[in-house]
Amino acid sequence: MALEIDLFFASMTGKAQRIAEAVANALASEARFRVRSTETLAMVEFAAARNLLMVSSTFGAGDLPEMGQRLFAELLRAQPSMTGTRFGVIGLGDSSYIRTYGFGGRRWRALLLKLGAREVSELFLIDALGDEGQDARALDWARRWLAALGAPAVAGEQPRPEPAARTPE
Ligand SMILES: Cc1cc2nc3c(=O)[nH]c(=O)nc-3n(C[C@H](O)[C@H](O)[C@H](O)COP(=O)(O)O)c2cc1C
Repeated sequence: MALEIDLFFASMTGKAQRIAEAVANALASEARFRVRSTETLAMVEFAAARNLLMVSSTFGAGDLPEMGQRLFAELLRAQPSMTGTRFGVIGLGDSSYIRTYGFGGRRWRALLLKLGAREVSELFLIDALGDEGQDARALDWARRWLAALGAPAVAGEQPRPEPAARTPE
């Protein structure tokens, strides 16, 4: 049976949504994607996702886009257990924000880890100041992420800690 992926996005000016849709289109023959905005998503639906891919940009001073804020706050308050969830995050940001680069994606990542979800593949960041090849590399990353999900779990496998980086939350 094909893997089912819940792909959620939080976007302010549309790029994260475009990336989410491009990933789902590019990998449609390899898995069943359900792409949804975090704007209206119920917390229980988020928490019920087994294979979760989050694409989120960053706004304000390292904040989530508005459309993700309600859901994020609800999750933080209710702390549903997500130990049965495997996830990956594609974060969008702008490296000229030296102190808060990619914090939108990093916040989702920190929250998912706190709720007990297991990270598969390290956070992938797309920099608004970076080269055009990044979008294609994000698709490659998503393909590898999907392959890692499909691979049989290695006993005792632990999520890899992220290398030195400011962690929000
Ligand atoms: C007002 C404003 C504030 C931003 N703040 C940050 C930030 O704190 N950190 C960061 O990495 N990027 C920041 N960005 C960059 C956006 O995250 C980046 O342009 C992203 O590609 C936008 O994606 P979206 O169209 O999906 O919202 C900011 C952009 C704007 C316009």
